[in-house]
Amino acid sequence: MSLKLGVNIDHVATLRRARRATFPDPLLAAELCLCVGADYIVIHVRNDERHMTEKDLARLCKAYGKYIHLECNSSEKMQKMALKYKPFSVCIVPEQPGEVTTMGGLKFTPKNIKRIGDMTRALQKKHIKVSLFVDPDPAAIRTAARCGADIVELCTRNYSEAKTKKEKNKLLRELALAALLAKELKMEVHAGHGLDYENVLPVADLCGISCMNIGFSIVSRAVLAGLPNAVCAMKELL
Ligand code: PXP
Repeated sequence: MSLKLGVNIDHVATLRRARRATFPDPLLAAELCLCVGADYIVIHVRNDERHMTEKDLARLCKAYGKYIHLECNSSEKMQKMALKYKPFSVCIVPEQPGEVTTMGGLKFTPKNIKRIGDMTRALQKKHIKVSLFVDPDPAAIRTAARCGADIVELCTRNYSEAKTKKEKNKLLRELALAALLAKELKMEVHAGHGLDYENVLPVADLCGISCMNIGFSIVSRAVLAGLPNAVCAMKELL
């Protein structure tokens, strides 16, 4: 089984937003990523649409629907939006107003278990695969299975931010056990958050993980790697 890569291009839209401009265009970014072998394009449409917008989702799904993996919260509004544009898959994530990024996996409560289960079934009825973003915690993984998820995406944020080797190894073991449990419960296992060129391989090597979703480190590297070309092009013009 080959490991797949979902490239999160939210921060292309963050750059666009910084100047309230129409570029860089996420559609072009998606095309470039897919051209060089990205397996999926991941976008997070937040309630405040601070980077990706509903319009981006519409355009991306129209052009590359079968490659689009949408991250969104579990509200009725997001469910309606996903059903309207039909991405290939949807990952339900927690969302707190004002957070800089997603802070961890879903915190299940009796109320949101019902809501997430209902949303999962509604999306699956329209042939959209459903992933739940969870911490590598056995109780959360069992709950995701009870909600009927096709996929769990294991949150690697704590692993990525661990300061010592000992702590990293402990968190890696937790991820390994979580992946095994999710496989046993017949779910696909993805992983993501905070992964970069230095820390990705130990996670990629864990048994059962089939897709890694990575954004910030790839877009950051692209900015620096692309600068020489961009500067040379301007110099030539001048
Ligand atoms: N997976 C999920 C569920 C996320 O919320 C994010 C961040 O948007 C990512 C993966 C990608 O994280 P990063 O941008 O740190 O690579």
